[in-house]
Formats: sequence, C-alpha cells, structure tokens
Amino acid sequence: MLTPEDPYPVWDGPGGPVAVAPLFLLYDYSFLPAGCTTKEEGLAHAHGTGIVCNDEYLLHPDPYPTREDWCRARVAATERRLAALPGDLPTVLAAHYPLDRHPTDVLWHPEFAMWCGTALTADWHRRFRVTTMVYGHLHIPRTTWLDSVRFAEVSVGYPREWRTRTEPPGRPRRILPMEVGSGDRGAAPGLGRGRGDVR
Ligand SMILES: [Fe+2]
Repeated sequence: MLTPEDPYPVWDGPGGPVAVAPLFLLYDYSFLPAGCTTKEEGLAHAHGTGIVCNDEYLLHPDPYPTREDWCRARVAATERRLAALPGDLPTVLAAHYPLDRHPTDVLWHPEFAMWCGTALTADWHRRFRVTTMVYGHLHIPRTTWLDSVRFAEVSVGYPREWRTRTEPPGRPRRILPMEVGSGDRGAAPGLGRGRGDVR
C-alpha cells in the first residue's frame, strides 16, 4: 500500500520503466456548469437543481480556510514532485478524480462535475508523460482517450449500480502491463446515454 506522501515507485516489468504516482488533489469547483463563471453561480445553480454533493457538508478542509485552498496546496505540492521526476520517465498517475474534465461530460447531472476535480491539472497528462491516468469517483467504469493518453475509470461501484450493468461487477482493472485488445476502448458499461465519451 502506497500513499501520495511516499516516494513514487517505478514499475520495471513489461512496458516499464514507468513511475507510478498516487495523487491526492481534491476539487476546486472549476468544472463549472455551462453558463456559470464563478463558484457562487455554480453552487446556486446546483442548489436550484437539487444536485449537491455530500462533500459540501461532510468534507472539512481544516486547517485550510476552504476546500479550494486545500486543493491548490495539494496541486502545487504534487506538481513539484512530478516535475522533479526524470524527464524521460513515463508515468501512471492515479487519483480519485480525473485530471481532465472530459469524463464528466456524460454525467446524468452535469452540475455534479463541480465536485469532480480541478482545471488546474488539465495539461498534466501531456506535461508528465502519462501512459495511463487512473481515476474513480464518477462510478462510470470505462476507458477514454485524450491526446493519445488513456484515461481509465476503475471504480468498483455499489451493488445498486451493478444491477443496471451487463458487465460482471467489481472487477479489478489491470493498468500495467497495459491491457491491449481488451475490447474496452471507449466502452462505458452501464452508461445511460452516450455523448461523445471518446475524443
Ligand atoms: Fe468520490
């Protein structure tokens, strides 16, 4: 078991060497709903629709003044560590939230994206030689590709979510060595609608 505070291990097996970096980055409300330009507008919109993440009530940022401050501190500290890796060493970045907003495009409730990451990491998959960006949180297990980088949503999900899917529940996903020909490219098991889930 490794935490985001540990040295990043290097995978030396097939497909390596690859540095594996667990990230703890949070969110900062920058994935705003369409038409909103500030956190306040976004939250007002979300309260109007009734779709408000429990994190608003349960996730306390102490000792940081706000969750955005905590997120920014985590992003800055992590960015420094990733920048210190050898410039020719590929990476797997594993985080709770996607580093780019595109996986949230298929949410049933788009306003929920505010609690799904930060725009501060939008170029990390290009900057840090990422072979796979691993995340969960959305509970829409699938693979998407952005700028030729694989984004793997590996959540296991809840039993109530398994019932709506044709795939067997709770399967671990192999990240290294990279799955080739697994047939899940762009697949979105259990997804209620397809809206450009690959780009
Ligand atoms: Fe989550």
